[in-house]
Amino acid sequence: MKISVEQAAEILKTNKAVAIPTETVYGLAANALSDQAILEIYTLKNRPSTNPLIIHVKNIEHANEFAHLNEYSKLLATNFWPGPLTFVVKSKNKISKLASARLDTIAIRSPYNPQFQEVLDLIDFPLAAPSANISNQISPTSSLEVSEYFPNLPVIDGGRTSLGIESTIIDLTDDIPKILRHGSITKEKISEVLNCDILENASSEIKAPGMMKKHYAPNCELLINQTESSDEYYSINFADSKLISKFQTNLSVDGILELAAKNLFRSLKMGEKIVKQENLKGIKVAVIPNISVGLAINDKLNRASTK
Ligand code: TXA
Ligand code: MG
Repeated sequence: MKISVEQAAEILKTNKAVAIPTETVYGLAANALSDQAILEIYTLKNRPSTNPLIIHVKNIEHANEFAHLNEYSKLLATNFWPGPLTFVVKSKNKISKLASARLDTIAIRSPYNPQFQEVLDLIDFPLAAPSANISNQISPTSSLEVSEYFPNLPVIDGGRTSLGIESTIIDLTDDIPKILRHGSITKEKISEVLNCDILENASSEIKAPGMMKKHYAPNCELLINQTESSDEYYSINFADSKLISKFQTNLSVDGILELAAKNLFRSLKMGEKIVKQENLKGIKVAVIPNISVGLAINDKLNRASTK
């Protein structure tokens, strides 16, 4: 069911969940201060209660009410907020314990999507918002995809999201900042602003409980780094790659990684559908350069192809 920004605010005030677009993916949002509201998110998504949620705030002053902001986080917020960057810092323990999975840290971001910001203007609490999909499925980048997951959920329609992949997550609780999840704001951009080394989460070490190896999963076989294809597969090309088959697409003919990121989840969803309809063997994806936003794309593809 499509709703307006005002209707969304009214529903949120009754501690019920609604879907709201952000610049990254659609979020399943609810009052971060209410256990009841947060429980609805976990139940709807079928999400393990050990996997904490990102808390969405208006701006840095709003963040300061719920998080201990250190120098790194202030610098990053000044440079990248509102925007697709989440940081993990010490919590002031004011949000629902369910939302933080009882951790003493908080993952917090201020999205720039104007509809999301309008909703935050109409309420006086922060919003917990994971991606609006069932756990372990592909994140939605349109309101139609949200409604496919949750037919009865009220959703604000904001068209196709502009970035298409989830926010970058950086852990600022230790002396050296550490990237927990790659996204549109790259490690290079962050290290330019902080002027220091930045670590990357070793894949063996699960710091963020949600960063399990298998995460974004299409419901069919997914083969990555492919150099050839056939009619038995749905093919996802990039730039001038040559995966030729009856059903195929290209993430960006001109080889623009930001555009490829924007088209990634929608192409995987389309692939899933066509594989099922046409009884194909699976999806093949071409090689994506492992630089800049390509790191985030490859990270998602690696997880999605892990059995
Ligand atoms: O772009 C985004 O970030 C989207 C939109 C809706 O804002 N949200 C999103 O949320 O991707 P979600 O729940 O799908 O991913 C949240 C990630 C999980 O991997 C979770 O483990 C991690 O954030 N996280 C949350 N709190 C954390 C904490 N205190 N420490 C470490 N990781 C945390
Ligand atoms: Mg998610």
